[in-house]
Amino acid sequence: MSGGALLEVGGLAGGYGPLRVLHGIDFAVPAGRITALVGGNGAGKTTTMAMLAGLLAPSAGSIRYKGDAVEGWSAAQRVAAGLVLVPEGRLVFPDMTVEENLRLGAINRQARPHAAEELEGVYAQFPRLAERRRQAAGTLSGGEQQMLALGRGLMSRPRLLLLDEPSLGLAPVMVDLIFDAIGALAGGGMTILLSEQNVGLSLELAERAYVLENGAVALSGSGRDLLGNAGVQRAYLGL
Ligand SMILES: Nc1ncnc2c1ncn2[C@@H]1O[C@H](COP(=O)(O)OP(=O)(O)OP(=O)(O)O)[C@@H](O)[C@H]1O
Ligand SMILES: [Mg+2]
Repeated sequence: MSGGALLEVGGLAGGYGPLRVLHGIDFAVPAGRITALVGGNGAGKTTTMAMLAGLLAPSAGSIRYKGDAVEGWSAAQRVAAGLVLVPEGRLVFPDMTVEENLRLGAINRQARPHAAEELEGVYAQFPRLAERRRQAAGTLSGGEQQMLALGRGLMSRPRLLLLDEPSLGLAPVMVDLIFDAIGALAGGGMTILLSEQNVGLSLELAERAYVLENGAVALSGSGRDLLGNAGVQRAYLGL
């Protein structure tokens, strides 16, 4: 596999009990870039993300992060090492304020001393969150909740940010806002693995992408090449 990748995944397989979802997928995430994992409903994107985050044990395969084999690490150990998942569906705590939700992202020992500084960084990036810092998270719009989920992930001081379907259910203007924020994070040097059903925008943003179909990598290439691929255009871009 490619040398110098921050994350290298080989032969990743498994699912839920008897249900096999992933059939051995390989991909790499180079440092400082956006890599996309795209595919339709049920392709296995969230399952992959859960395995990377340590929330679901694979039945086979290797996950190398910063050169370490992390398959046996707990989710908390992975977060402490900078491998941070922003889960699908946002999952903010609705009755807590925006700021309380953000602070929860910094509860691990590595992040806690930097919480104040990170909070200012998140507010600088998302002024809408700063304006709403004392508002209950459940009263935010969907797009604002996605910003909050992203901000909470940033509070953990990620080295590799795993974003599972950040555009899910958002209005186009909010999708643009979130994708702009993701692009800005990458511009600042963050490494990002982006799982998305919004194939067109993801391929525009990602340097490299993998198309997941039925738990296997059907295609991979640069975002630009895949945007020009006739099969991708037909299946995912409605062209
Ligand atoms: N907790 C679970 N228990 C049993 N089956 C599950 C569970 N979670 C997901 N699955 C199944 O695993 C398969 C892959 O689901 P997954 O959530 O990984 O897809 P996805 O690519 O993220 O799709 P989407 O874009 O709709 O989020 C689906 O067939 C789904 O029904
Ligand atoms: Mg999913």
